[in-house]
Amino acid sequence: MAVDRFSTQLLNWYDRHARALPWRLPPGSPGRPDPYAIWLSEIMAQQTTVAAVERYWRRFLELWPTVQALAGADEAQVMREWAGLGYYARARNLIAAAREVAARGGFPETEAELRALPGVGPYTAAAIAAIAFGERATVIDANVERVAARCFAIREPLPGGRAQIAAALSPHVPAGRPGDFAQALMDLGASICTPKAPRCLLCPLQAFCVGHASGSPEDYPQKAAKKARPVKQGLAWWIERDGNVALVRRPPRGMLGGMLALPGTGWSEAEQAAYPFDADWRTLPGHVRHIFTHFELRLSVAVAPAPVRWNRLGEEPLFWTPREALAGAGLPTLYARAVTLALELEPSPT
Ligand code: ADE
Repeated sequence: MAVDRFSTQLLNWYDRHARALPWRLPPGSPGRPDPYAIWLSEIMAQQTTVAAVERYWRRFLELWPTVQALAGADEAQVMREWAGLGYYARARNLIAAAREVAARGGFPETEAELRALPGVGPYTAAAIAAIAFGERATVIDANVERVAARCFAIREPLPGGRAQIAAALSPHVPAGRPGDFAQALMDLGASICTPKAPRCLLCPLQAFCVGHASGSPEDYPQKAAKKARPVKQGLAWWIERDGNVALVRRPPRGMLGGMLALPGTGWSEAEQAAYPFDADWRTLPGHVRHIFTHFELRLSVAVAPAPVRWNRLGEEPLFWTPREALAGAGLPTLYARAVTLALELEPSPT
């Protein structure tokens, strides 16, 4: 087969400039990384930057060094350790996938089979297949999309343009190093082919790049106009007794499912229920603004002391948590920020 200059140039660059990430083998290594470690890193990286993932990834591997260990983990502990990574359905899928993999005796090795695991979408399946199993899969994340849309001057707006991007890129995926090829494109997108002011002078693909030749690579990829996010309101209840604050566990399904939280109203208009008991409720000034995928939430906090003998909220058990322990309780970011707001505005009475 003729030498593919696109992939050769890219891999030569990667050999010199690959980012050192803890789950990565050095470029061109003969061995294969542990698929469990790769799967974990890719699921975590779906919601945040690789830099932010490192700490979580190390902690998970320390607590659960194998997929079998994670399959047997205490779910509440996994959710606690996940707190801060966001999007908790992923943590639930993580446990479900670990159990499936452990039950079948190891990770499936093809993109198609990996795709069937809970929480593993097209990107993640391709990434694990290429990086951990050496399959010639075409891996497309936002960085790769940008590099390819510029290189091949793909005008079709995203997400529709993704099929064209895959078609343009896949012939270049080298049989020998598909995982390095994918990660090289990711690194290139993160460091050189950046959304604004790409540094084309340093780019190993400059000679192939139609976007560069056109003089305005930033024009790619085109994006379909976004719909505005609807805004929802919610009210969290700060119920305190003797320096302890009432927390609840959210129902297993739905937003932030299974996570600890401040109690409060639902977030739809119909759910702006009354307070849980009669008291002189005070709503604190300000609110926490939190962006979910499909809506923005503005969460206010209302404060009241717990009445004597008040000890339950419907069917839900309450977790009375000392003020000082709230920071370490494993609250998801939304509620951690609501707690910060309340602690600032409501200093301890003592
Ligand atoms: N983002 C997610 N996974 C990555 C990887 N393996 N290399 C670079 N960036 C990534």
